[in-house]
Amino acid sequence: MTVKPSVVTLKSPAARHRTRVREIVDATGLFRPEEVEIALEVFDGATEEPGVDYTAIGAFEDEYLVGFVCFGPTSGTVGTWDLYWIAVDPAGHRQGIGRKLASACERVMAGNNGRLVVAETSSRADYGPTRAFYEALGYTVAARVADFYAQQDDLVVYTKRLS
Ligand SMILES: CC(C)(COP(=O)(O)OP(=O)(O)OC[C@H]1O[C@@H](n2cnc3c(N)ncnc32)[C@H](O)[C@@H]1OP(=O)(O)O)[C@@H](O)C(=O)NCCC(=O)NCCS
Repeated sequence: MTVKPSVVTLKSPAARHRTRVREIVDATGLFRPEEVEIALEVFDGATEEPGVDYTAIGAFEDEYLVGFVCFGPTSGTVGTWDLYWIAVDPAGHRQGIGRKLASACERVMAGNNGRLVVAETSSRADYGPTRAFYEALGYTVAARVADFYAQQDDLVVYTKRLS
């Protein structure tokens, strides 16, 4: 599959896109099976009750889902939002789709009084592209918890202030 960014459009995904979400998350090769299930639970929440706890935005080439982002307000905070999950089909990496998805998600957050975005990721070497992505988008490391996910696999907390 070749993803052509010029024809990628953003819109809300539906429950029928769940299988593609699993395929995309699996195809990244980064996530353990239990993490894939968590991604799907968040996606289900976003399609069953959009905008309540979770919101999803999909990137589509025609009607084919090539990437998605899931996010929501962080409970118990004033204006903090979690960027829970963002993934793009590896066939479409480095074509600006992730940036488009993150920008759209930040616009929704800002439009709902969001002021701070939190994105958690791993320190593992294979997450280097993910960290480079967040840093390219203006996220900075706010905290790090050693050995959080596993031995030698730290939690890296990125934040970004929305203007
Ligand atoms: C992170 C991810 C969503 C980025 O999607 P993408 O569509 O490839 O990203 P973009 O093309 O919009 O990249 C935007 C910028 O991020 C940086 N970037 C993205 N991928 C990079 C890589 N592999 N190496 C270095 N920098 C990278 C670059 O600065 C890039 O801009 P440029 O291409 O003009 O140089 C994608 O790599 C992915 O799905 N990764 C696996 C899932 C994941 O880790 N999700 C986050 C945790 S839930």
